[in-house]
Amino acid sequence: MPKPKKRFEIMTSKCRFVHLRIKGGTLTHMMKRLFSGIFTCVSTFLLCLLLSYSVQAQELPTDAAAITAGEALFNANCKTCHRVKTKLIGPALAGVETRVPSLGWIVNWVHNPAKVIGSGDDYANKIYAEYQKSQMTAFTSFKDEQILSIIAYVKAEAAKPDAAPVTAAAGGTGSGSSEPSAYLDAILVGMIIILILLVVILILIVSALRKFLDTKELSEEDKEIVNSPITFSSVTRSPGFIFLVIFIVSTVTFKSVIDGLYSIGVQKNYQPKQPIAFSHKIHAGQYEIECKYCHTGAAKGKQANIPSTNICMNCHSQIKAGTNTGEGEIAKIYAAVGFDPATSTYTGKTKPVEWVRIHNLPDLAYFNHSQHVNVAGVICQTCHGPIQEMDVVKQYNLLTMGWCIDCHRKTDVNTKGNAYYDKLVEIHNKKSFKVEENGGLECAKCHY
Ligand code: HEC
Ligand code: HEC
Ligand code: HEC
Ligand code: HEC
Ligand code: HEC
Ligand code: HEC
Repeated sequence: MPKPKKRFEIMTSKCRFVHLRIKGGTLTHMMKRLFSGIFTCVSTFLLCLLLSYSVQAQELPTDAAAITAGEALFNANCKTCHRVKTKLIGPALAGVETRVPSLGWIVNWVHNPAKVIGSGDDYANKIYAEYQKSQMTAFTSFKDEQILSIIAYVKAEAAKPDAAPVTAAAGGTGSGSSEPSAYLDAILVGMIIILILLVVILILIVSALRKFLDTKELSEEDKEIVNSPITFSSVTRSPGFIFLVIFIVSTVTFKSVIDGLYSIGVQKNYQPKQPIAFSHKIHAGQYEIECKYCHTGAAKGKQANIPSTNICMNCHSQIKAGTNTGEGEIAKIYAAVGFDPATSTYTGKTKPVEWVRIHNLPDLAYFNHSQHVNVAGVICQTCHGPIQEMDVVKQYNLLTMGWCIDCHRKTDVNTKGNAYYDKLVEIHNKKSFKVEENGGLECAKCHY
């Protein structure tokens, strides 16, 4: 045991019953211990709180915090394809918690729809068929309670009175009954207040002790310790602090340099202006024209294709002006196909529209739309984002090799109703296997 450096005793005249004996340390040592003791207590408590949060699963949370979290998750991940009260790419989610077999079913489904479908689950296969075998994105990295918070948000949202009534919404149970995590929040706030009070009390004690010691005769060494103040400059000049600052600064710099290097050639969010102000929001969103009506190749071949102006003319030989842009933009279609709207005749003078290409893999990579759209049943929005909401299209995903590989690692091959895979399913001897296990990571599959 190291011999204690200093020891002193304090006897207060005012409070005789308090006999403070501080062993094995000086005043500052004592304060440090107190601080660290309190810190450990508080952090252990917070950890327990966090743990208890994560344990309460498989029941819909009802507290405001979870619902807000669910709303954020819903908007970021599900809104592309789902609305609460209206059908979009996928079903309206209102009332889903009463419609599906169980909450656990929802968790499994969101984690991996293909697996649930592949397992022969009746309900899953029913909705899958109902939605023309378009496969929902898998959210493998979501925690159970994150999924439940999304459903909690959906439930809360569905219960709100709104113009559009929903069929099976609001499954009876009122909100605001027992809310365990609301208490946890209160405890958390209480703890923080206590923490602040403790700090204030400690500061008061320190200054009281210092005043008291000033009146005492102390040895030089004790004086030095007692009088050394914890000032701003003494903290900032301490080696620990300097190390911390250097460490943080260099980590941040290193990370941004690496990120910068990796993003060379990555065109996420690329959103060029197009020669005709064509809006997907109007066509695919408002008027719900099928993607494949215009992008005719998506289900058949490698390229999805940009529609020729002839396809535009199927409608625009009649629709000669738009509500937002008037005749100006549609006139550009006429100029391209050589159409005189006044007489509704073709002049024969054509000139192609020079659409600016947005998504473009380098020549070394091979990507095939029909393999993903038709065979795998991946929905356009999984890769291209909420196109039906974009007035001007932008690249939604990274389109890097890592992005392709990541999905091939996570996504199950859609073997259902595909005789081609029957043998493979037999060989693998299980109902589901990932694209990865079917050669989806082989270089030659994606590289010429
Ligand atoms: C790319 C489009 C897409 C995204 C993104 C998406 N879904 Fe879906 N979802 C669908 C489709 C399509 C269906 C219908 C079943 C099918 O065809 O596979 C569906 C079905 C469901 C069902 C079953 C609904 C019912 O009525 O039985 C639930 C629950 C669900 N999705 C939850 C979610 C949640 C939660 C998210 C966000 C984390 C999400 N989905 C994101 C497309 C999507
Ligand atoms: C009425 C025809 C039409 C419909 C319907 C349509 N698109 Fe388009 N799409 C176009 C035209 C024209 C362009 C090129 C101009 C542009 O980028 O806006 C385009 C461009 C795109 C691009 C960018 C292509 C590139 O240059 O990389 C994507 C991705 C896309 N569409 C996806 C979709 C999806 C997904 C849907 C269904 C939700 C859809 N489109 C529905 C006509 C259509
Ligand atoms: C299936 C029918 C259909 C097809 C195909 C179609 N459109 Fe449209 N388009 C519409 C409708 C409906 C409107 C809305 C008119 C309005 O605003 O009242 C519209 C509006 C427009 C507008 C004006 C938007 C505004 O609000 O000012 C432009 C520009 C346009 N379309 C360009 C195109 C181009 C380019 C193509 C071919 C790539 C195309 N459309 C194909 C149905 C179609
Ligand atoms: C698995 C991801 C994925 C899915 C699903 C997907 N795309 Fe694409 N899309 C891409 C990639 C990657 C490119 C770039 C291809 C290239 O440069 O060779 C692209 C390019 C495009 C383009 C422009 C170039 C071209 O190929 O003609 C259009 C238009 C397009 N996609 C529309 C669609 C439509 C419509 C759907 C749904 C029917 C769809 N995509 C589904 C990944 C996807
Ligand atoms: C959203 C998920 C997803 C993304 C993103 C994705 N893929 Fe795929 N990919 C699949 C699925 C699912 C299959 C399995 C299709 C099947 O059943 O054959 C597949 C199959 C393939 C195959 C055929 C593999 C084989 O075994 O024959 C190639 C090649 C391929 N993808 C290339 C790409 C490239 C290149 C990209 C990126 C530009 C990409 N994929 C992005 C889901 C994805
Ligand atoms: C699922 C499809 C897929 C597989 C499998 C795949 N790649 Fe790629 N790879 C791509 C795509 C897409 C790109 C273009 C990415 C970009 O432009 O950022 C690419 C780019 C590259 C590049 C160029 C990198 C650059 O920054 O330009 C190299 C080298 C490469 N891949 C090597 C490999 C090797 C080696 C393997 C096998 C171990 C492999 N790839 C497997 C899809 C794939």
